[in-house]
Amino acid sequence: MKNLAIYPGSFDPITMGHLDIIHRAANLFDKLIVVVMVNPVKHCSFTPAERVSLIEQCVGGLNNVTVEYSDGLLAEYAKQKNATAIIKGLRALSDFEYEFQMALTNKKLNPDVETLFLTTTAENMYLSSSMVRQIATMGGDISGFVPDVIHKQIIKRLKG
Ligand code: COA
Repeated sequence: MKNLAIYPGSFDPITMGHLDIIHRAANLFDKLIVVVMVNPVKHCSFTPAERVSLIEQCVGGLNNVTVEYSDGLLAEYAKQKNATAIIKGLRALSDFEYEFQMALTNKKLNPDVETLFLTTTAENMYLSSSMVRQIATMGGDISGFVPDVIHKQIIKRLKG
């Protein structure tokens, strides 16, 4: 497969910011795999299967996008898939140091893959999955932060 990119994240849950990056990356590459991965410093609210399912519901209309789960190393996963690029979304300067460190580490572990950063659109700059979870858990309005198709499921799941 030529020009395969992977877009990793914990996606707990997917937000409009992630979806924007998915649409733009899907236009740039022949195939895009959105991969739900483990960030060892985070305790996720949604199970891996739930996170995969939520993403799948949002990308149904994009026929070059698939969704997977991996609990391994990103650099190894990229090697297995023979990926050309790892896509990451950059929100603000505060993301930069952490992303820079991860990109360099992944390059060391897998020299064949490039990390490409797409800048998040202005309206999604402030978004994060944990903010969405917090607002939903406290009964706030998360429409506009998450895709319509999964909005009710997220509220139902987080409000119990
Ligand atoms: N718009 C809005 N929000 C965005 C966004 C965008 N475009 N892109 C990211 N975010 C948010 C995410 O929702 C997340 O919010 P949260 O902290 O509240 O959960 C936050 O920004 C950070 O996102 P990201 O930098 O993508 O981190 P992540 O935890 O979602 O994913 C992994 C990190 C899973 C990719 C990383 O831990 C990993 O590679 N794991 C595999 C193990 C491995 O290889 N480790 C070594 C790495 S060098």
